[in-house]
Amino acid sequence: MGIETSCDETGVALFDSERGLLSHTLYSQVALHAEYGGVVPELASRDHVRKLLPLVNKCLSEVGLHRRDIDGVAYTAGPGLIGALLVGAATGRAIAMALDCPAVAVHHMEGHLLAPMLEPDPPVFPFVALLVSGGHTMLVEVRALGDYRVMGETLDDAAGEAFDKTAKLLGLGYPGGPALARLAESGNPERFSFPRPMTDRPGLEFSFSGLKTHTRNLWLKHANDDTARADIAAGFQQAVTDTLVIKCRRAMREARACELVVAGGVGANLDLRETLRDTGRKNGWKVSFPRLEFCTDNGAMIAFAGCQRLLAGYQENLVISARARWPLGELGNGALNSGGLRLNGGHRQ
Ligand code: KG4
Ligand code: ZN
Repeated sequence: MGIETSCDETGVALFDSERGLLSHTLYSQVALHAEYGGVVPELASRDHVRKLLPLVNKCLSEVGLHRRDIDGVAYTAGPGLIGALLVGAATGRAIAMALDCPAVAVHHMEGHLLAPMLEPDPPVFPFVALLVSGGHTMLVEVRALGDYRVMGETLDDAAGEAFDKTAKLLGLGYPGGPALARLAESGNPERFSFPRPMTDRPGLEFSFSGLKTHTRNLWLKHANDDTARADIAAGFQQAVTDTLVIKCRRAMREARACELVVAGGVGANLDLRETLRDTGRKNGWKVSFPRLEFCTDNGAMIAFAGCQRLLAGYQENLVISARARWPLGELGNGALNSGGLRLNGGHRQ
């Protein structure tokens, strides 16, 4: 069983190593946070407490299973909102303890990057992963389960964060990414020019804050122009897509890879998916994405990652740990229990 509570989505799923994904449920807190224009951490934690156990029961009953059928529990241990993470961590550990089965702490971004493996014709190690979510933008060389080399990441805003902030600026509300993408469909991406940040110099780092400022200045100049909003949305989206694609091409060359995996919430962006598929065809790479609903946060990716970890023999002690910050590069060397919030010690290190 996999449990995801790192931010504003409560996700639970059951994955069987032989039969595949058995069931998955998701409760989104979007409506709860909408009036504040963003996620309120304390409200998020409290809502996870309310929703998590009912979702566990729903997931089991949908496929006629009982708690005793669970052989292992995986929970997101970080990175994310510390209070929200602790709800999943404490519940997951408690369920595992009661059932006398192993529990495994999963890195949220590892969940995202393995999510395409839930699809038919899954990617095969080694590959390069483009992880684009609300909190992260990174290119990772994935050699095997737990063997990750971060090739480049963002120096400031994540791609999803840039989508969200730009959407807010254009008056599109929260969460902004999907709303901005919808508006972009009716806009002309060529009307205004947008920078492709950090593409004119070598390297795999990203930076999206300048693009956001550029967009704000454009919007201030054209706020009274009816069609400008959609044109700005379309131009912004194309600039983000182009920037990500240019860096993917570089990363694939550097890693001499022929498989690219795209995951995380922004991986649901249809413009990005189409452009990357096209680039893959032209360059002879295989490009894999999760289905749309598994791009954004979900329990299925955590159940899958946890199952792979348990099968690979990863075991942890009974300490309940969660880490708000947890570099992906530290995975595989048992680093969860350093630098996190430990319930038995009760202090942040
Ligand atoms: O992976 P995710 O669900 O949560 C994090 O781990 O952060 O990603 C959420 C992010 C948000 O910033 C959201 O606006 C963005 O993914 N997003 C999109 C789209 N769907 C979700 N951005 C652009 N286009 C979309 N269709
Ligand atoms: Zn995520």
